[in-house]
Amino acid sequence: MSAGRPSGGLAGQVVVPGDKSISHRALMFGALAVGTTRISGLLEGEDVHRTAGAMRALGAQIGREGADWLVSGRGIGGLTPPEDVLDMGNSGTAARLLAGILATHDFWSVMTGDASLRKRPMARVIEPLRMTGAVFAAREGGRLPMSIQGARDALPVQYRLPVASAQVKSALLLAGLNARGVTEIEEPVPTRDHSENMLRHFGAEVTVGRAGAGRLIRLFGQPELRAANVRVPGDPSSAAFPLAAALLVPGSRVVLRGVGLNPLRTGLFETLREMGAELAVAAPRQEGGEPVGDLVVESTDLRAVDVPPERAPSMIDEYPILAVLCAFARGTSRLRGLGELRVKESDRLSATAAMLRANGVRVEIEDDDLIVHGAARVAGGGLVETHMDHRLAMSALVLGQASAAPVAIDDARFIDTSFPGFVALMRSLGASLT
Ligand code: S3P
Repeated sequence: MSAGRPSGGLAGQVVVPGDKSISHRALMFGALAVGTTRISGLLEGEDVHRTAGAMRALGAQIGREGADWLVSGRGIGGLTPPEDVLDMGNSGTAARLLAGILATHDFWSVMTGDASLRKRPMARVIEPLRMTGAVFAAREGGRLPMSIQGARDALPVQYRLPVASAQVKSALLLAGLNARGVTEIEEPVPTRDHSENMLRHFGAEVTVGRAGAGRLIRLFGQPELRAANVRVPGDPSSAAFPLAAALLVPGSRVVLRGVGLNPLRTGLFETLREMGAELAVAAPRQEGGEPVGDLVVESTDLRAVDVPPERAPSMIDEYPILAVLCAFARGTSRLRGLGELRVKESDRLSATAAMLRANGVRVEIEDDDLIVHGAARVAGGGLVETHMDHRLAMSALVLGQASAAPVAIDDARFIDTSFPGFVALMRSLGASLT
């Protein structure tokens, strides 16, 4: 069992691991490009290893050279049938994006995942991907395992996303690469655009226009994807944990170097500024088509916040750690429109509330809103069930660093899916973790 313990001020400079979303995409686009793609800063987490394993099973060559990863691609439509079931482990991104690739490759395959992933809805990608001509068969309720017979002569899809999901959008773009004609996706609320950015970086033609408050994305099918070099920035969703610990533990000052600052990912930073945090960005720069900077953060007395639902896509993975921050803020916070949290690695809405309650925080769920009553002192002392969810595990360990008594978690293994070396990195800043 692991626990986060009351810690003294955190200090130091660290580099957080590579961005998970960009890492999956770099391996997938590299496997579909002609030539050798060099990736530096790839996240060496379990989820990304699953994507690498799947792309290898589909015929791409993936190797290492020092700290870099090299991917020799097969060209659009050039992947080959896998000999065995593709096991995507804990990763929803890997599973959904891969479903898009498989939908427009003319062969049969089967995909599964771990107990958490097998509970998560796949119908959101299966339904639109069927319009390419692919044939899917999944377990009751659109759950994994599922089999996919890819379309022979795939049709491009025109689709309006019913949920704000970058995974669904990206699955359709990946499918559209091997469809003749123009794939058109309308997203009512903008979601992370790493796929669009990277497609352009690999030479595809992608246009982005306005559609009301959202966006209309068009991809011209069957482009020549050319291998490219990708530099993966630090993951802002991982940076959120040391950042939160530094805000909460009095006397802290921490620098997080090379963090990705794509505006469709930085809803947490905007929210923290509303809560009174002073986050400075040093050395802002562009790396591989993505904005990057060094975040400087000091401990701060936070005030409660009301987060509007339309901000959710830009901070969707940050709500568990934001709820921890709200537990220490002055006043009552309301985090609105969190329905999508119910279908993450766990039911994160209930699990976040349970984590806080087990440690003496007053919390309510009203429809899709989470209400957190802040207090200057949080008792801690609880045992948190993490439900195979890395972000709950890390949130609970940070909670323990600022509470009166340690906070224990039932299982720390899943932290490696997105943040290998989390405990060592936090300890290097002076945090007390066992
Ligand atoms: C991701 C998109 C988000 C996010 C996930 C990664 C991506 O999911 O929660 O961790 O890489 O596209 P949804 O798009 O399903 O909201």
